[in-house]
Amino acid sequence: MAQMNIGIAGLGVVGAKTAQLLLSPLHAQNGTDLSLRAVSARNKDADRGFSLDGIDWHDDARELAARDDIDIIVELIGGSDGIALELVSSALRAGKHVVTANKAMIAHHGFALAELAETQNVSLLFEAGVAGGIPALKLIREGLAANHLTRITGILNGTSNFILSEMTATGRPFADVLAEAQEKGFAEADPSFDIDGVDAAHKLAILAALGFGEKISFDAVQCKGIRAIDKADIAFAGEFDYTIKLLGIAERGGMRSVQPCLISNSHAIAHINGAMNAVCVEAEPVNIINCSGPGAGAGPTASAVLSDLIDIAHHRTAPVFGVSTDRLEDAPEISAAKQISKFYIRMLVSDRAGVLSDITAILKELDISVESMLQRGQPKADTVTLVMTTHQTSLEAIEKAQARLAKADFVTGNIMVLSIIDANELR
Ligand SMILES: NC(=O)c1ccc[n+]([C@@H]2O[C@H](COP(=O)([O-])OP(=O)(O)OC[C@H]3O[C@@H](n4cnc5c(N)ncnc54)[C@H](OP(=O)(O)O)[C@@H]3O)[C@@H](O)[C@H]2O)c1
Repeated sequence: MAQMNIGIAGLGVVGAKTAQLLLSPLHAQNGTDLSLRAVSARNKDADRGFSLDGIDWHDDARELAARDDIDIIVELIGGSDGIALELVSSALRAGKHVVTANKAMIAHHGFALAELAETQNVSLLFEAGVAGGIPALKLIREGLAANHLTRITGILNGTSNFILSEMTATGRPFADVLAEAQEKGFAEADPSFDIDGVDAAHKLAILAALGFGEKISFDAVQCKGIRAIDKADIAFAGEFDYTIKLLGIAERGGMRSVQPCLISNSHAIAHINGAMNAVCVEAEPVNIINCSGPGAGAGPTASAVLSDLIDIAHHRTAPVFGVSTDRLEDAPEISAAKQISKFYIRMLVSDRAGVLSDITAILKELDISVESMLQRGQPKADTVTLVMTTHQTSLEAIEKAQARLAKADFVTGNIMVLSIIDANELR
């Protein structure tokens, strides 16, 4: 087997581990001849846990793409644009294979990069970009190649899942658990991409493009994060036998959304806790496949990077999004308002006669039917917390009800609305 020379750009959490694995004796056992030839990062003097002896250093990562002796560029810098995109574009243009963990870049520029890789007849692989150590893209691209995928559901962000799991297990508030996640290194100093659902939306866009043979569209993903989830919502969800999870859901020809949902405790995905990820694929004829595993971190992510490198060394090739770019269809544009679901509604209302009938009158006018209702008062308080779950209805109707209720003199503060997913909906 011919030797493949590798240049790694970015030697942080993932890049350093990838380099260590490539240099380790264990790696020699995978039957390939991958050789780490050059690296780039910002600080040459940082301790990366391996020796730079015999490996060329570049201050400017873009120089890696210009080297004739490098066959594969591994981009592990991050960021949807900037240096990462410049490096990957120029590497593909120079006829080099590219492996990256950069889901943000693929979500925003994946189609153009796939066209470039196709023109140059090289591989562009990003297994590490989605669900870390779970080989989700290989599963869809190769293992389920004979199937017609209908829906992909996932817990795609370990930080959010850690926070929600901790809130569920301990009853602690969001801010408290977020601070702990930051201390433990599960959450970035700026956690917004994780907790606002953006990171999960990048991954869902990739899964949908590959699973449904579509031009990748980040804009087609409706995205809502977990900042507003109150410990009361977690507790009430539990009383109704649901767990709150940040779920990414993509349906063929339908909605793509990342949002916190109440998921029935009878579904396996409700029990994926901590920083774990899960991917659930519904397809014909296989029916349903559930996978779970570590969604981030040095080892799981480097494992996925290495598996892409090994595929390239073994000449295992496939179009970037499963079919050639000229056969990819446009992603459907579906308004979030059309989403049909059961809903959970929590609000604080005045504790006086007639309020319940006023609320049900508003819901009735919008054809929203209530499935169950729970009322919790507090001693000496003149308000009560009212929690309702509805039968299937449109988000449009729920948002109209929310707007009308928010104006009512008997409602105090914000009204929380979350989608409910029953186990039978996911099969
Ligand atoms: N961490 C995870 O668990 C995980 C999981 C899945 C996917 N990913 C993705 O993997 C990629 C890398 O993430 P990470 O967590 O490893 O990030 P990280 O720890 O912040 O590392 C980033 C690396 O890029 C280097 N870098 C920054 N700007 C550079 C520049 N202009 N030129 C050359 N090198 C530059 C940094 O150099 P210095 O070290 O010298 O500062 C650092 O080594 C991202 O796309 C991320 O989304 C990460």
